[in-house]
Amino acid sequence: MTQPNRKPLLAGNWKMHLDLKGSVELVRALLKDLPADGREVLVAPPFTALSVVAEVLKGTPIRLGAQNLHWEEKGAFTGEVSGGQLKDAGCSAVIIGHSERRQFFGETDATVAKRVRAALKAGLVPILCIGETLDERESQRTWRVLETQLQGGLEGFTAPELATLVVAYEPVWAIGTGKTATQGQAQDAHLFIRKTLAKMLGEGFAAGVRILYGGSVKPDNVDGLMSEPDVDGALVGGASLKAADFARIIKFQIPARR
Ligand code: 13P
Repeated sequence: MTQPNRKPLLAGNWKMHLDLKGSVELVRALLKDLPADGREVLVAPPFTALSVVAEVLKGTPIRLGAQNLHWEEKGAFTGEVSGGQLKDAGCSAVIIGHSERRQFFGETDATVAKRVRAALKAGLVPILCIGETLDERESQRTWRVLETQLQGGLEGFTAPELATLVVAYEPVWAIGTGKTATQGQAQDAHLFIRKTLAKMLGEGFAAGVRILYGGSVKPDNVDGLMSEPDVDGALVGGASLKAADFARIIKFQIPARR
C-alpha cells in the first residue's frame, strides 16, 4: 500500500471515446458513487468534452485532466492545444507521453520533456507515461527502456520543479489487451522507477512521487495491485468508461495482511 505522503490517485483516461452527452452522464454517475475521501480521482476526457465536464465537476472532488498538450503557449499550430487553454477549460492535470502517442503520433522522449515543461509552466500536474513493449520485455530490455524514458522525458529538470509530477507505468503489452501485469511485475517496475528517480532527483523526491499503474486495471484486479507498496494509484482506460467499474476501482480495498 502506498505511503501516507502519497495519496492514492485513480485516473480515468477516456482516450477517443464518448460524445458530450455520454461524458456528462458518466461523470454524473460517478459523482453519485464516490467514496468519502482518502483518495484522489481524476478523469481525462477528449478535448471536445473538457468544458462540459468541467461544468459538471465544478465544486466536486473529481479533478479534470487532458490527454495531451502542445509545448508552445500559442501560435500557428493547427490542431494543437496549449497548457494555458487546458487550464482555461478547467484542467488541473495532463497526461503526457502515453504509449499510443509514442506509437502512433511520433512522440519521443525529447518532445515529452518539452510537454512536461509546458505543463508545469501552465500550472498543470504532468502525468508522465512510460512503459516497455512486449518485445522489449521479452528481450530483457525493460529496465533500460524505463530508465531511458525517465531520463529523456525529465531531462534538465530539478526536483523542486517536478514537485507535482506523477509517473504512470504502463506496460504497452498490458494496455487494452486484458493482460494485466501481475502484482509482482508491477511492484518490481514501480520500485525500479522509484530507484531510478532517486538517482536522478534524490531520495526525498523519489519517496514522495506517486507512481500509477496502467494496463487493463479492472474491478477484480485493482485491490491486489494497490496492495503493493510502490503502487500509488491507477491510470485506467477501458474500465474508466463504465461508471460502476470505475467507481469500484476508486473504492479499491487493500486485503488485510496475515
Ligand atoms: P486499459 O485500461 O484499457 O488497458 O488502458 C490503459 C491505458 O492506456 C490508460 O492510459
